[in-house]
Amino acid sequence: FSYRAMLLWSVWSVILLLTTVDAAEEEDVRAGCSTAVNDLVYIIDGSWSVGVSDFDTAKQWLINITSQFDISSHYTQVAVIQYSDTPRLEIPLGKHQGVAELIKAIRSISYLGGNTQTGRAIKFAVDHVFASSQRGNLVKNRIAVVVTDGKSQDDVVDASMEARAQSITVFAVGVGTEITTSELISIANKPSSTYVLYAEDYTTIDRIRDSMEQKLCEESVCPTRIPVASRDEKGFELMVGMNIQTKAKKIPGSLVSETAYALAASTDITENTREIFPEGLPPSYVFVSTLRLKGISSKLSFDLWRVLSKDKAIQAAVTLSGKDKTVTFTTTSTTEKEQKAVFKTGFQVGTLYDGKWHQIKVLVRHRQVTGFLDDQRIQELMLKPVEPIYINGETQVSKRRGTDITVPVEIQKLRLYCDPHQSERETACEIYSFFNVLQGDRGEPGLTGEPGLPGPKVRLGEQQSHGRFE
Ligand SMILES: *[C@@H]1O[C@H](CO)[C@@H](O)[C@H](O)[C@H]1NC(C)=O
Repeated sequence: FSYRAMLLWSVWSVILLLTTVDAAEEEDVRAGCSTAVNDLVYIIDGSWSVGVSDFDTAKQWLINITSQFDISSHYTQVAVIQYSDTPRLEIPLGKHQGVAELIKAIRSISYLGGNTQTGRAIKFAVDHVFASSQRGNLVKNRIAVVVTDGKSQDDVVDASMEARAQSITVFAVGVGTEITTSELISIANKPSSTYVLYAEDYTTIDRIRDSMEQKLCEESVCPTRIPVASRDEKGFELMVGMNIQTKAKKIPGSLVSETAYALAASTDITENTREIFPEGLPPSYVFVSTLRLKGISSKLSFDLWRVLSKDKAIQAAVTLSGKDKTVTFTTTSTTEKEQKAVFKTGFQVGTLYDGKWHQIKVLVRHRQVTGFLDDQRIQELMLKPVEPIYINGETQVSKRRGTDITVPVEIQKLRLYCDPHQSERETACEIYSFFNVLQGDRGEPGLTGEPGLPGPKVRLGEQQSHGRFE
């Protein structure tokens, strides 16, 4: 073993070491609700009015809504405060690593009993529990969930304002008939339609579980807000995020008030997924795009939007195929490489290639996905369980399937809303003529059966019950 060989050897080891570090850095990273970095504090009412059995239900509910998170010092940390006259810190923030241990700890909380001093409990959470977090600026979201069944005997306004001042998002969950709505509204963030939840009693609290889970997820992975009409919606404005407005040519949109952008064959709309969806995709969302396919062969198959992993595996995509007359939604799967929901639009897809403006909407929910074209429901399909997406690849717009070739579409809208209910509010009225909208508002049935003519503006629920718009 000469000196020279030894030198070579050490150089080699350094190179080896460097490559290993590199590889570790490039390892694929999945992101979604479960991997969000949250400090989550539950503040639960343990006053006399609750009673032992309902208190147990409340604990089980907390366990249920917690199970979707990865509980660890890297991701979500949970604390639980029970309160009556005074708050009691049952579980300090970050005490338990792993969801099983946390669930056990929540289960063993014993019921306090006493009066209801909600304001005091919120103040305690702000001053002592959130403040005790060891993770400082690493925490992305500070969220409090207040579960209460009675009218507070102290003032809740100051404490709640203090929470908001410290950028803590407060959800108010009211249970039972004793609670006053105005109190819940002053506890929670605005808008109250998002941050106030209500259950008639503890036996029906399970009904607001999906909604609570979705809202917690939205809070975790959808930090941006898109101004829509008079309200701010959580979501991703891809026209801006994907730099479509800066890279493509500005053109008149479907209405005088609208602006659209024309992609050229040389326009490359590609961004790192990490920049667009840093925390992955929420479990439910609405993909909406208003577009015009002008001079584009109806034989062409292309991804209007796609999220690719580093090795180009599709994590999410909306694909238009003129040849098959389909719109396909692709997503991840826990059992296979990917799963596809194929909306067979039949005659409707012909209209997509007619050189006019159209709106495609894909409503993704837990285990099901619904496709819409110009506000008309195409189909609803089942989904198998999905996995969080890889975020270290690229997100692209209007690319031919399996290639990097741009399809020169004209795009007016490209958004992802995190609240699935936005689907009901997001109508395709921007592409209707004034006449049609008027007809639609009066719900004249004559229009609905004709291909290419938009149907009346109806809410999703109505659509389902009548069935005639399918
Ligand atoms: C918790 O989840 C289980 C299993 O899904 C369900 O049966 C139960 O009703 C839920 N309980 C509450 C209080 O949400």
